[in-house]
Order: sequence, then structure tokens, then C-alpha cells
Amino acid sequence: MRIHVLNGPNLNLLGEREPDIYGTLSLSDIETSLKEAAGANELVFRQTQAEDELIGWLHEAFLAKEPVIINPAAFTHYSYALRDAVAALTSSGIRVIEVHISNPHSRETFRHTSVISGVATGVIAGFGADSYLLALAQLTRD
Ligand code: DQA
Repeated sequence: MRIHVLNGPNLNLLGEREPDIYGTLSLSDIETSLKEAAGANELVFRQTQAEDELIGWLHEAFLAKEPVIINPAAFTHYSYALRDAVAALTSSGIRVIEVHISNPHSRETFRHTSVISGVATGVIAGFGADSYLLALAQLTRD
């Protein structure tokens, strides 16, 4: 199976950005551990600062009917365009798991709202980099 792992803005700074919240692993450390855990599955691992690019990658997964692990970062809290793109996949039966490194519900109030969760297949948050591994385990368990 081919799985898309999509990362939103500022996640390229993982390891250096607010390590007390996001930990010390870099995004490339996370990519390496996910690829190790992926076995025979192919991972397409990407990061962008741009909403339109994330939407384009979701469309790619939609057309290919391939599952997605997405950390939408700050877009989580306000991007209806991203929500609509996720809904296109999940409403046609393609799984999309929303992940967060931190637990947004234990942070500032504006982070308590996810406009993505309502259309995601599931949400995993608060387990550091393991949030991604847990999402991968779920997508590859059957
Ligand atoms: C995040 C949580 C978001 O609120 C924040 O904007 C991020 C990272 C997380 O992985 O914990 O950039 O998605």
C-alpha cells in the first residue's frame, strides 16, 4: 500500500522549534522511523508551508485512492479548504488520519477547535512523534 504522510507549516523546524512542546526529534527523524516501521508499504512523506500545496497532495491521494496521515499544523484550526479536501477523500471511503505531536486540547483555546477532525477518519494527538507511528499502525493493521 502507498501511504501519504503530509505535514503543514512550521513542521520543518521540529527539533528546534519549541522543543518543550514538540520534542527534540526532527521531521527527518520522524520520516526515518516511519519508513522503518512501514515494512513493505511505500510512504510518500512531504512538508509544506503552503495550504494550496497540501490541498494538491490530498487531491493526488484522492485520485489514487490512497490513505493519508496528515498533520495540518496551524491549518487544523481554520482551513475550511483543507477540510473540504479531506472530506472529498473520507466521504469516498479513503482513510485520512489527523495527527498532532502535542495535545492541542491542553494548550491555548484557539487550538481546541479542529475544523479537520469532523471529516477525518480518526485523530491521534499528544503522543509526540509516536502519534505518526500510531496512525501508521492503524492504517497497516489489516
Ligand atoms: C500541531 C499543533 C498545532 O496547534 C500547531 O499549530 C502545530 C503543530 C502538533 O503537531 O502538535 O504547528 O499540529
